[in-house]
Amino acid sequence: MTTRLLRARLLSFLRRPDSVDDRGSYRYEEDGGLLIEDGKIAAAGSYANVAALAPADVETVDHRPFLILPGLIDTHLHFPQMQVVGSYAANLLEWLNTYTFPEECRFVERAHSERIATHFYDEMIRHGTTTAVAYCSVHKASADAYFAEALKRGMCMVGGKVMMDRNAPQGLLDTAQMGYDETRAVIEEWHGKGRNHVAITPRFAITSTPAQMEATATLAREFPDLHIQTHLSENHDEISFTLDLYPEAVDYTDVYARYGLLGRKSLFGHCIHLSDREADAMSETGAVAVHCPTSNLFLGSGLFPLKALARREKGVRMGVATDVGGGTSYSMLKTMDEAYKIQQLLGERLNPFESFYHMTLGNAEALSLAHCIGTLEPGTDADLVVLDASATPAMALKMEVVRSLTEELFLLQTMGDDRAIHETYVAGAPMKSALT
Ligand code: GUN
Ligand code: ZN
Repeated sequence: MTTRLLRARLLSFLRRPDSVDDRGSYRYEEDGGLLIEDGKIAAAGSYANVAALAPADVETVDHRPFLILPGLIDTHLHFPQMQVVGSYAANLLEWLNTYTFPEECRFVERAHSERIATHFYDEMIRHGTTTAVAYCSVHKASADAYFAEALKRGMCMVGGKVMMDRNAPQGLLDTAQMGYDETRAVIEEWHGKGRNHVAITPRFAITSTPAQMEATATLAREFPDLHIQTHLSENHDEISFTLDLYPEAVDYTDVYARYGLLGRKSLFGHCIHLSDREADAMSETGAVAVHCPTSNLFLGSGLFPLKALARREKGVRMGVATDVGGGTSYSMLKTMDEAYKIQQLLGERLNPFESFYHMTLGNAEALSLAHCIGTLEPGTDADLVVLDASATPAMALKMEVVRSLTEELFLLQTMGDDRAIHETYVAGAPMKSALT
């Protein structure tokens, strides 16, 4: 049994903070102790109290003056797009056709999929991300590589073989039947193995025929506990092309609703341009809108109305994500920096506590996984990030005048990136310092 005692400042959320003064929304321990046993948090609290519970010969790691939070969670990105990041395109559809689809064709090769999977998990660890939700490519080999590497590293990962059978190059198309069969094969091989979760993954309505959407509907009925992920309402040309392809639908959200794809395990990337009717359909079904700020700015897709959606009578459930390679950074800190700026442009405020809530408990709730990740609660998995707000000379200089936790979090979000991640623990094991 591996037992470890960590000493640092601790921050963990209990619910979404309403304001910077919402002290009841989080637990903060100035001199904190975290006892880890067999990959899980055994106790968390003041160092004095937790140290008293630890065995005499426990290995103690002193992370003072750093800040320990639950590991960061990224609820939408594309594992086969690591070499697409920073591709010069005018908009979403041009970016997909010119750069992204050709690149994803390479994942038919097992060796290429495995090589990129190694880099992918290295970047997750480097950036403090301990759980991510990824689209693989259409090829089963890409999903195999993705889940095999997660298993090797003991990480809690969600992912899916993409289903797409039209409007893309031949090398990137399955068929309705193949998409169904291979998704079932991925579920049987990987779901529940280690900490892996398989998601049903139709790319978006444009790249699936009605026959393939029927196949996703069948999968959703056969595996009601699985996550479903797709894209929704990202770009105006995408929306009008979708409505041409599905003329019977009243709007884009209705395309997915008609196939029974709206529910509490459904993750919809982007959701920038939803009508009131669509937002209502999302809240009524508990479907999750996943905000991808660096991608939305990079592709010029639009400004996600995060605050307006949260304020609705029945709020829309929400996640935040990098969307690499439309997104430009693996860092959830950078992601929330850009999310903040988008709200500024909309005349709204996103407070730093809210940002860190979203990266941790908020995203765990969006995935319905808060019982095992996203907090420092005893009994949950010991996936942790150790943050250093003085990681660079410029950050250290700014830290000289920082007077509160609010200011420190805001500095981390505004100036931080992978350099601010001092250590990343996965199931209690230090992973970042172990990277070669
Ligand atoms: N819509 C369909 N596929 C994609 C993708 O790979 N990235 C983004 N940002 N949007 C999409
Ligand atoms: Zn995406």
